[in-house]
Amino acid sequence: IDQVRYIANRSSGKQGYAIAAAVAALGADVHMISGPTDLPDPQKVKVTRVETARQMHEAVMTSAKAAGGVDIAVMTAAVADWRSANETEQKIKKTGDALGPLELVENPDILAALGADKDARPTLLIGFAAETENIEAHAKAKLQRKNCDWIIANNVALDSGIEGGVMGGDKNAVTLFHHNGSEALPTMSKADVAAHLAARIAAHFDPDIKNPETHKNKATTA
Ligand code: PMT
Repeated sequence: IDQVRYIANRSSGKQGYAIAAAVAALGADVHMISGPTDLPDPQKVKVTRVETARQMHEAVMTSAKAAGGVDIAVMTAAVADWRSANETEQKIKKTGDALGPLELVENPDILAALGADKDARPTLLIGFAAETENIEAHAKAKLQRKNCDWIIANNVALDSGIEGGVMGGDKNAVTLFHHNGSEALPTMSKADVAAHLAARIAAHFDPDIKNPETHKNKATTA
């Protein structure tokens, strides 16, 4: 059924779509699982559109296990951590009485599920961390807790200083945390963040890489 009221966030999909396009441009075979956005499909990317966290979970796990597994997963989606416990078939009407408490239940943590499943875990598992404070500490905790190889942290606080805000805007400033340290990038367009990340991924698989365009990998992004 169409969702009349639902829990979501302001993510536009711009950063995730830019990453899918950048990795595909380097020659990877990319399957992108996307939540609702207004963006057109990137070129050379297989796209599966979903509407809920549970649908995204199922699509990601299926994609990650298909054809012997994937080399890389980049998890950029801002998945809602909770959903309403009581979905209704019909729109809830106002009756004049106060609405009872809204009960919430937790959605699956897709990144953690991918990190914990030995049949699905990609060789390089990359998560994002959208933080508003204590960015380094929270990002490092997510790296461990979700069993990732890299966490890309970005500051989504409204006072981050990034024009238009990170969530929904056109620019981002990210720091890549891995198990041996971190690498910070200055503020740049989301397309440039994606190009840096794609080049970094290519170099990870072949440190001597001279021409990333010739490097082929399979990737899933969500
Ligand atoms: O879409 P844009 O407008 O371009 O904005 C980009 C962005 C700010 C959304 C993006 O850069 C970003 O930070 N994405 C991650 C958002 C997020 O949900 O962060 P988190 O810290 O809550 O989650 C940590 C990681 O777990 C993320 O990789 C997320 O995809 C994953 N997750 C979270 C919850 C959940 N139920 N399942 C998950 O897989």
